[in-house]
Amino acid sequence: MLAGKRILLIIGGGIAAFKCHDLIRRLRERGAAVTPVLTRAAQEFVTPLSISALAGEKVFTDLFDLTAEAEMGHIELSRSADLVVVAPATADLMAKMANGLADDLASTLLLATDTPVLIAPAMNVRMWDHPATRRNLATLTGDGVRLAGPNEGPMACGEFGPGRMAEPMEIVEAIAGVLADGPLKGRRILVTSGPTHEPIDPVRYIANRSSGAQGAAIASALSGLGAEVVFVTGPADVPPPAGVEVVRVETARQMQAAVEAALPADAAIFAAAVADWRVASASDSKLKKTTGGLPELALAENPDILAGVARMGAGRPGLVVGFAAETDDVVAHATAKRARKGCDWILANDVSPATGIMGGSENAVVLITGEGAESWPRMRKDQVARALADRIAAALAGQTS
Ligand code: C5P
Repeated sequence: MLAGKRILLIIGGGIAAFKCHDLIRRLRERGAAVTPVLTRAAQEFVTPLSISALAGEKVFTDLFDLTAEAEMGHIELSRSADLVVVAPATADLMAKMANGLADDLASTLLLATDTPVLIAPAMNVRMWDHPATRRNLATLTGDGVRLAGPNEGPMACGEFGPGRMAEPMEIVEAIAGVLADGPLKGRRILVTSGPTHEPIDPVRYIANRSSGAQGAAIASALSGLGAEVVFVTGPADVPPPAGVEVVRVETARQMQAAVEAALPADAAIFAAAVADWRVASASDSKLKKTTGGLPELALAENPDILAGVARMGAGRPGLVVGFAAETDDVVAHATAKRARKGCDWILANDVSPATGIMGGSENAVVLITGEGAESWPRMRKDQVARALADRIAAALAGQTS
């Protein structure tokens, strides 16, 4: 799937650099050629010899290497690839990229390149959460830099949280997504997914049974057709797919803010099961069980994120797709919902417990468009996702980007 593609792999100085051995092997197995560049710090973690042996190519390390410069100038090196991949992208490398610094070979190549760049960040969780890294990440994604990971989990430093570099196969998938020459190449698509959690107090919340499986499958299918996908997800059971930009939120209001920040987009797919209500004034401290009285939970209505985007006038995505989870009269309710929300399509499904759809691996959907209702046979959620992605590609093909 990567046959004939050339990857310039910039290896940063972090413990996750060792995963690049496997990454290089996997890329080459799929037919890609890998030109490695090591920062000075990276050479503390992996050796140029091992990387060169696996890549089957010369390793570049030094901006002022006259031999290398005579063979291939660094400007040419920066542009000779189909994709520049930075793995691990350390906090320092991200800061340099975001600020346009060019004080070594890696940062100079990153400033000089005109090819797409994908970064796989890896750092301590506090460094990842630091406002400076948040700012740098926002700058980089705004500049069009693509992201793989980071994942959440135990880290070499003994802490736990987001900051672990994505696994080699996840990075390969992300690379394949960026290089995909599919019908959605050059299209930016927003996908919401998962449930939202609405706090009652610091330890309790209102939620629903959405697993996030269908939303993740849709994001993956769209990315597989070459789309740049922004995946805004509530706390789902299913991990987000590789190769998409992931924005994690908890509440409906956070989801709304994340959706607004992610626009403009060519299409927006609202697969999230957003809680309709939140607790009007969530308590800052844990509610106590008291004798003689139950706590009263006054509810407030959450914003309707789908309707807000579907009715937004200027800047509205060209295609807005909503979901309808119904337990009876699916077509009638979903058709009414399409009109009420102002969206272009509704993908409706029957989630009554007997269907086993909620949390299951299959789905039976009805697509409601301006032309009417179209029932799809029951199939796996990834097949529903692919069928929907194909329909979206066909619809967008008729619209200019
Ligand atoms: O109104 P209902 O929740 O049934 O509509 C479902 C559709 O609306 C889904 O696409 C869901 O993502 C979206 N929605 C939303 N914001 C809400 C409630 C639902 O975007 N507050």
